[in-house]
Amino acid sequence: MKISVVGCGYLGAVHAATLASMGHTVVGIDVDAQKVAHLNKGFAPFHEPGLDELLRDGFATKRLTFTTDFADAADASVHFICVGTPQSKTSDTADLSYVIAATKSLLPHLARGAVVVGKSTVPVGTVDMLRGILARRPDVQLGWNPEFLRQGTAVKDSLVPDRLVYGVPGGKDSAAGLPVTAALDAVYAPLITAGIPRLVCNFATAELIKSASNAYLATKLSFINAMAELCDASGADVAELSEAMGLDPRIGNRYLHAGLGFGGGCLPKDIRSFRAQAQALSVPSVDEWMGVVDSINLAQRSRTVLVARDMCKGFLSGRTVTVLGAAFKPDTDDTRDSPALDVALQLAAAGAHVTVTDPKAINNAWMRYPQLRFEASTNRALEGAELVLLLTEWDEYRDLSPAAVGKLVRRRMVLDARNVLDAAVWRAEGWTVRGLGTGSVVEVEETATDVTPAVPPSKAVNTRPFVVGSPVKARSTRR
Ligand SMILES: NC(=O)c1ccc[n+]([C@@H]2O[C@H](COP(=O)([O-])OP(=O)(O)OC[C@H]3O[C@@H](n4cnc5c(N)ncnc54)[C@H](O)[C@@H]3O)[C@@H](O)[C@H]2O)c1
Repeated sequence: MKISVVGCGYLGAVHAATLASMGHTVVGIDVDAQKVAHLNKGFAPFHEPGLDELLRDGFATKRLTFTTDFADAADASVHFICVGTPQSKTSDTADLSYVIAATKSLLPHLARGAVVVGKSTVPVGTVDMLRGILARRPDVQLGWNPEFLRQGTAVKDSLVPDRLVYGVPGGKDSAAGLPVTAALDAVYAPLITAGIPRLVCNFATAELIKSASNAYLATKLSFINAMAELCDASGADVAELSEAMGLDPRIGNRYLHAGLGFGGGCLPKDIRSFRAQAQALSVPSVDEWMGVVDSINLAQRSRTVLVARDMCKGFLSGRTVTVLGAAFKPDTDDTRDSPALDVALQLAAAGAHVTVTDPKAINNAWMRYPQLRFEASTNRALEGAELVLLLTEWDEYRDLSPAAVGKLVRRRMVLDARNVLDAAVWRAEGWTVRGLGTGSVVEVEETATDVTPAVPPSKAVNTRPFVVGSPVKARSTRR
């Protein structure tokens, strides 16, 4: 089967390579010529474990190519739209301009009877809007197949997904939906044969399944982070609390780990888009609920800064601080709405001398925030630190030796904002260890001058100049 995948970022590049590995002939199309050139050399333009191998397999079998030319999609029978749907610059709504542009670019090249399937995360009602764009091609079928992969495990999630969701015209039992269902069954035949659950529904349900899933995950994370604050206020320990809660099978332990909270290119913008959808549909309960989830999440960032200040006896100004982690989570180089970088910016704005390090995300972080100081080597980043903050829980930071790190720093103080270190082991080496929700009450003087409120990174402002540390080679791609 010949398939096109439009938009080759974190979602589309993985999807294209996965489809090729299933035996399809796939052309990936992107407007970013540098990204396409990178992919055509067999290398992912971003860090995603296992993707380079999948790309190389696709090229070896000659089933996978990438291009900027939409005409190369002309002989494909199924087209997947995987372009970005970022938060609008002026509101909480999703910016659908890339989805609209991609659909319009495909339109002149669609073969008779082609099927166009959206995978991007979109607000409810988007398919109806796209149907208008495709109105003069009644032979073309439209479907929606939301994607649930997670960066860091995207390849595995695509090869063995939890479920497949098909949004089709008329929904589950409608004859109008049969051609789209049949086309997607042919695309995913190996997964269906392997027993992956497949759910067929109408467009609104397919669109909402993705938004509701992300809203639930965000709710669970913000819930446990709210409990962390209660633990700090009461002397309880959130790790023990969540472990006990998670043993109840009705609750489960996943996404029940307290810490700095979520970020990235999906969850934050998706819950804000969900709020906007709820407002448009006059469902204030969902709007208010998501508002609380969002504000608890953002508050974890300023809370981390407050604990850091508390550990520095009330004054961040002039302190030498090392931030471990720049990516929004481990196993990715994605720095979109990274909580770690947000905290680093807030610490810097409070006058601390901040050095940020990360195993994979330094280049992206540097391009996004050139005013921060970056250091590629973990050891060099730690030299002379008066406070170490663990903000992205990469394995190499979890596995740091407190004795070895103790020889590099000036003061043995660590704020483990991801609650992943073995505090007893670190304390045994003479470290002062704090986490979030570990029962240590934060004595905060709100009047202190060096505290800044939580702000989204895009709006954060530095008040002092910074020297960029060890030069790192700039990547050729920009997202
Ligand atoms: N990243 C994830 O883990 C993930 C998971 C599930 C769903 N999603 C959703 O998938 C969508 C894409 O997310 P992403 O993280 O891959 O974004 P991304 O920014 O990494 O990739 C988007 C790509 O689309 C390309 N593009 C933009 N306009 C185009 C056009 N008109 N024609 C062709 N290409 C175009 C961009 O150049 C870019 O390479 C979003 O809706 C996101 O919410 C992402």
